[in-house]
Amino acid sequence: MADLPRALHRPRRLRRTAALRALVRETSVETDRLVQPLFVREDPRTDANIPSMPGILRRTVEEATAEAEDLAGLGVPAVILFGLPAQKDSLGQGAYDEHGVVQEAIRAIKDAAPEVVVMSDVCLCEYTDHGHCGVVRGGRIDNDVSVELLAKTAVSQARAGADLVAPSAMMDGQVAAIRAALDREGFEETGILAYAAKHASAFYGPFREAAGSAPRFGDRRSYQKDPANLRESLREIALDLEEGADIVMIKPALAYLDVIRAARERFDAPLAAYAVSGEYSLIKAAAERGWIDERAVVEETLIAIRRAGADLILTYHAKDFARWRRASRA
Ligand code: PBG
Repeated sequence: MADLPRALHRPRRLRRTAALRALVRETSVETDRLVQPLFVREDPRTDANIPSMPGILRRTVEEATAEAEDLAGLGVPAVILFGLPAQKDSLGQGAYDEHGVVQEAIRAIKDAAPEVVVMSDVCLCEYTDHGHCGVVRGGRIDNDVSVELLAKTAVSQARAGADLVAPSAMMDGQVAAIRAALDREGFEETGILAYAAKHASAFYGPFREAAGSAPRFGDRRSYQKDPANLRESLREIALDLEEGADIVMIKPALAYLDVIRAARERFDAPLAAYAVSGEYSLIKAAAERGWIDERAVVEETLIAIRRAGADLILTYHAKDFARWRRASRA
């Protein structure tokens, strides 16, 4: 024993106490970087519960408003809204209805809690009867016709008071068209959070159950991007920034940390990551069985997403995280 060389470097010195560890911690997650997604149902008879997403509800406009106020009280500054219309049709008309469910929810939340940052998803898939994110023409998703409707949707949400519109349909040119439409209508202060690198992912499964938005035929691979491609993600982000995006987003998060890191190194714009429904469900399911420590796993995944380089995180755990933080500080 005595002959073995003693450690020259001792990184453990700075791990000795909680205070020392805190002093040298490189990354943190704060509640004020989190965005809580909310599902808003138009039809009060729609079931509130989402079996694959325990703890997440389909809320009426009133319930969503109360929830946004609750979140603000807990220090969660922002929500992103997804609409569940009473009726769907081939053109997704509920998406750009001035009195659609999301438009009404935006108005109600901005009225009750003006300080809450309200983001709204701009897509057709929750509103179309075929479940695709755009308009179907001859069995294909028509890019340019879809973009027109997406721009219309964004304008109607801006008119209702959205702070940021969040195009997620992965149609080419959607950000430029939305920016131009917003500016034309006098909404130059409404920002765009672009789902820039949105991958064709199986992690969206629970969301599609929640929104009844699974495509009735085919899949989304002709518009959402191939999970195998990193350079393509960077190109998508570059295009969205060129087109006028204020914040660019990568989605999903945990399986795409390398994309977040690469984007952080390449671009100076604010970077968002969306920890999607399937990521939430995996953690919830294991936690319900007592197989993992839910809080510890959530904290670890959020730290990982921040460490990879995301500035803000859209996560279904936002409210729980805020509650845990509050409880441990009290
Ligand atoms: C709309 C949209 C989807 C998600 C966000 N916006 C569904 C999809 O693309 O199928 C997924 C979010 C999640 O899984 O939490 N296009």
